[in-house]
Amino acid sequence: MAAFGTVFMPQMAISRFEGSQWSPAEMVASDSITLHPGAHVLHYSSTCFEGLKAFKQPNGSIKLFRMDKNIERFAQSSRLLSLPAIDKSATAKMITDSVAQYASEVPAPPGSMYIRPTHFGIDPAIGKAAAPSLTSMQYILLSPVGEYFSSDAGGLRLLLDETGMRCAPHNGMIKSGGNYASALRPIMDARDKYQADQVLFCPGGFAQETGAANFLLIDDGEIITKALDESFLHGVTRDSILTLARDMGLTVSEREISVAELLERSAKPGCEAALSGTAAVLAPVGTFIHNDKEYVLGNGKEGPVTRKLRQAMNDIQWGLAEDKHNWLVDV
Ligand SMILES: Cc1ncc(COP(=O)(O)O)c(C=O)c1O
Repeated sequence: MAAFGTVFMPQMAISRFEGSQWSPAEMVASDSITLHPGAHVLHYSSTCFEGLKAFKQPNGSIKLFRMDKNIERFAQSSRLLSLPAIDKSATAKMITDSVAQYASEVPAPPGSMYIRPTHFGIDPAIGKAAAPSLTSMQYILLSPVGEYFSSDAGGLRLLLDETGMRCAPHNGMIKSGGNYASALRPIMDARDKYQADQVLFCPGGFAQETGAANFLLIDDGEIITKALDESFLHGVTRDSILTLARDMGLTVSEREISVAELLERSAKPGCEAALSGTAAVLAPVGTFIHNDKEYVLGNGKEGPVTRKLRQAMNDIQWGLAEDKHNWLVDV
């Protein structure tokens, strides 16, 4: 099976901002775009993107999951990068129309259609290091994907990093390429040195997020995760899982969690940890690595609460359980 995100639908919806307005969306070939080599994005990283999914329902119809939340975050990222404001309803229409065009290509569960709205500055101006791009391009790439994660697999190995940070703290809630570039070197080092799968960035000694997911600790009927602030990405999956956890009667605590508390709790039988994100929903953490020591959670594999929460979320996405919170949107 092809690697996640490497297969694309042949066409994509595209629109440009010039002057004071967005051009009408067009469908164009998805294998190339034309950019000036001096385009703002290529020099000053004026770029943001989103990741959401469309799911095939038992009756064959296609539903998008929480598109409004992703569009809100896309608008927020664009605003915080001083890009032209997106037109939220035009973006929603670009997404729904392109998914509708490729409805027959949406894989059945556990697969889905991964949707990647992308927005970046295209001013051909290399003197704008400290000035925003006034023109921009937006497109919606579609990529059919299979199951990201097999529940038989062991839990992830997570390096707890108290010295580095994923990105500049004032940029954390922007879903921008520069933040991923900034996290890459610590992640590669952690892979080389510790065979870690991911780095849990813990600036100042408190758990924040990994390179591409939010972090949740589950212990004794309680889910603990960092409260929202501007230093990290406000995951749509995080919000959905916390909502489902409340529905199940778990206690949700949004607060700081120190590395010391993490390590102490990880030794207790029944303690679970997981990463939340659109790609995998919830991926179990099996091992924390800290100061050259390893701390295995439970049997190092997926715990029952993680499994139950992921199943509850998948059941809603796949149309197998009631969509109580109106998260599914018609295409
Ligand atoms: C840095 C980062 N944090 C958190 C998330 C989780 O966000 P969401 O649940 O909206 O996919 C992602 C990924 O998608 C991410 O890249």
